[in-house]
Amino acid sequence: MSTGNSLIGTTLDGRYFILDKLAAGGFSQTYLAIDTRLPGTPTCVVKHLCPIRDDNGVLKAAQEMFQAEAEALQALGNHDRIPQLLAYFQEQQELYLVQEWIDGHSLLMELPIGLAMPQAKARALLDDVLVALDVVHQAQLIHRDIKPANLMRRTRDGAVMLIDFGTVQSYPCSRELPMAIGTVGYMAKEQEVGRATYSSDLYALGMVIIQSLTGVPPNQFVRSATGQLLWKQHLKERDRHLEPILDRMVALDLNQRYASVAEVQRALHPAPRRLLLGSLGLVGALTLALIGVQQFGLELGQRLWGSPSADRLERLRQVLSQKKWDLAEQETQQLLLHSMGSHSIFYLDQWTPQVCATVKAVDLLWQEASDRRYGWSTQQRIYRGLHHRQGDRPGAPSTEFSQLSQTLNWQAVRRSGEEMPPGHYPHVFRGDSPGTTEKLLLRLFACLS
Ligand SMILES: Nc1ncnc2c1ncn2[C@@H]1O[C@H](COP(=O)(O)OP(=O)(O)OP(=O)(O)O)[C@@H](O)[C@H]1O
Ligand SMILES: [Mg+2]
Repeated sequence: MSTGNSLIGTTLDGRYFILDKLAAGGFSQTYLAIDTRLPGTPTCVVKHLCPIRDDNGVLKAAQEMFQAEAEALQALGNHDRIPQLLAYFQEQQELYLVQEWIDGHSLLMELPIGLAMPQAKARALLDDVLVALDVVHQAQLIHRDIKPANLMRRTRDGAVMLIDFGTVQSYPCSRELPMAIGTVGYMAKEQEVGRATYSSDLYALGMVIIQSLTGVPPNQFVRSATGQLLWKQHLKERDRHLEPILDRMVALDLNQRYASVAEVQRALHPAPRRLLLGSLGLVGALTLALIGVQQFGLELGQRLWGSPSADRLERLRQVLSQKKWDLAEQETQQLLLHSMGSHSIFYLDQWTPQVCATVKAVDLLWQEASDRRYGWSTQQRIYRGLHHRQGDRPGAPSTEFSQLSQTLNWQAVRRSGEEMPPGHYPHVFRGDSPGTTEKLLLRLFACLS
């Protein structure tokens, strides 16, 4: 095993030339490199597994975690906020992981002790990290080491990226190890005893935001006798809406904490449309659809075969509430066809405001019932994360669309009860050619924006 000697100046796998060392962690060293095999020799990041201790137990655990890190990047890296895995290989018994280089800076640099971040920026940071975390959780993974050092702000657009999946764990975990993996201060109590859940990542994120708002690192806070984190006295500006949300994110008791990213997002951005839908059910959905129509200025008296019929929407809502996704997909297809005044053909050129209103109402129902796992909005988010459009032939599906289709596993033969990847449902255009499906989907996405 390597003793951690520097690799600077060497070439790995016959192509990655190591330029500089970026960091050295407990189990790995991270280097900046260039890929000499690609035109323009793009920059990349090479992580080399080299635990400081090399007794068998530690090495084996570290190898397993390194493998899990590579698998996580492979599964998540086509998302815009998570680096892509470029290679994973062994050379002379040493393991290496190559990933996309993020041109940006560590969030640590934005959080010097004693300096609070402006409130709007801290809120935006929370929103940004929630987006990345949602992708991780939807893949049934927990990151377990959310902290400023593992967040990077990309120079090109200021977006915050989530890195370092060296502590990632699938959830629920098949094999529970009573090990504290994480970083003190950001680590929730349950994680200290090896029982991390999705909420543990939300706890860590809450701590990062509290640190941003106060300029105080999390291990310097104390708790009251009742377990409340005492942090608000460090605030310069008060924010009555955000403060209780952060309090809930960093609650000691798991039962008091948010259970999912979606819950936090709902608390941060309560949508009146969602409330309407939740409390009024069918009537709400219909009202929404009709409001949509009015907003688009459809004149009364125009043909109204496109408005979603009450019983169809109600049926969809019921099927969705029973989580019968396949059936709901069929219902959705019927609803969409109906809104186009068609029985079997999707038209590319008959997208009246009513079709869009139906799309919005149907999408809200899917999002509600699946806790945002399924629905067109989810597909749209994933699609937006795939930004490799280049050189596609006219008429052919774009690279993003092929990737979207793969990510959502639309080729899958479904078995009953099997959970599908986020965004998989509804795939109402099954059987249509990929080029046409993409055009239809883009029209549909346009209704949502
Ligand atoms: N994809 C990347 N692009 C740019 N810089 C990166 C990238 N990945 C890592 N870095 C830089 O290298 C540092 C260390 O990387 P990372 O956090 O993955 O490993 P670590 O924390 O040292 O490792 P360990 O998994 O052993 O804890 C990061 O804090 C960041 O500054
Ligand atoms: Mg790290």
